[in-house]
Amino acid sequence: MNTLVDKFGRKHDYMRIAVTDRCNLRCQYCMPEEGVKSLDHLNILSFEEILSVVKVAAKLGVRKIRLTGGEPLVRKDLESLIQMIHAVPGIEDIAMTTNAIFLADRIDALKAAGLSRVNISLDSLNEDRFRLMTRGGELKKVIQGIEKAIEKGLNPVKVNAVVIKGFNEDEIADFIRWTIHLPIQMRFIEYMPIGDSLVWKDGYYPLEEVRKIAESIAPVMDVVGVRGNGPASVFKLAGAEGTIGIIHPVSQHFCSSCNRLRLTADGKLKPCLFWQNEVDIRSYISDEEQLTNVFREVLNLKEEKHQMTEEQMSQDKTVRKMSQIGG
Ligand code: GTP
Ligand code: 5AD
Ligand code: SF4
Repeated sequence: MNTLVDKFGRKHDYMRIAVTDRCNLRCQYCMPEEGVKSLDHLNILSFEEILSVVKVAAKLGVRKIRLTGGEPLVRKDLESLIQMIHAVPGIEDIAMTTNAIFLADRIDALKAAGLSRVNISLDSLNEDRFRLMTRGGELKKVIQGIEKAIEKGLNPVKVNAVVIKGFNEDEIADFIRWTIHLPIQMRFIEYMPIGDSLVWKDGYYPLEEVRKIAESIAPVMDVVGVRGNGPASVFKLAGAEGTIGIIHPVSQHFCSSCNRLRLTADGKLKPCLFWQNEVDIRSYISDEEQLTNVFREVLNLKEEKHQMTEEQMSQDKTVRKMSQIGG
């Protein structure tokens, strides 16, 4: 059978591929100050290897690919990989999650190669705060990236803000107001205390507040059917150009509708973001039949829901850091 349906009936048609574990920024919640020891170049899957995996995945029903990192745009010549994936029969959508620092300069080439959408990470609209969070990032570049992505029609452009108590919750209203004139989907993400860079151990902020804040600005209405809605619940301010999404990966996990598999930059297939055992598929890549079997085995290992509580996540130092999984 040519579909990836797991034992809980969930159809998997979406694969997140981390193309690198490196990043040009070092967000405080994602990496320690000294950075993360990068994988040896030789351990990173080549474009040809990624392509072989995508071809098998597409035959098994994967339709949507999301490129993640680290920061995908630090991988040299990413445009070529996008072009190669774009030519694979069955792949309908190629998206990317990026910090957008390099986006404005490369957007034409990325679009020409076949990139359809971008999700952009941005946790503050205040220049100094953004620099502090990213340890040196330039907010202006990200804003240019967002504007260019809209201008070039990479729709819907989604902006991801991780909300952290004591850091940026005072900016929720500003982010919401941004949607009045910008046709973005502004998404607020619950902070997952994952890995060992727990700078904000007590950073949990109840995202129910976001809707209340929106209601204090203008009447609010639910939105259904936005392309690639993924895990977000979406609403908008009456009359606004853009929409607002809320993602609760921990407290109201969306495991029952999970449609995704993950491939790490060093060739491990993961059935779940929070799943620590991963299957090394490198040695199977040249053999389509074996690779197909491995996909099914990994899917078979997938559990009904993630078992990670906030407490476990914050204690477990062995999990990969976000930059190494790709979110
Ligand atoms: P689209 O639906 O295609 O727009 O993408 P997305 O929202 O899945 O991707 P994005 O990379 O923008 O991720 C948004 C947030 O959701 C990030 O904080 C991710 O870490 C989180 N996330 C994405 N996939 C999963 C998942 O399978 N499980 C959990 N718990 N969180 C996830
Ligand atoms: N909690 C929630 N979201 C996170 N991201 C990175 N680390 C965390 C975390 N600890 C987000 C990034 C990016 C997406 C892929 O994951 O901001 O937008
Ligand atoms: Fe880089 Fe994204 Fe991690 Fe920030 S959150 S350091 S932009 S990978």
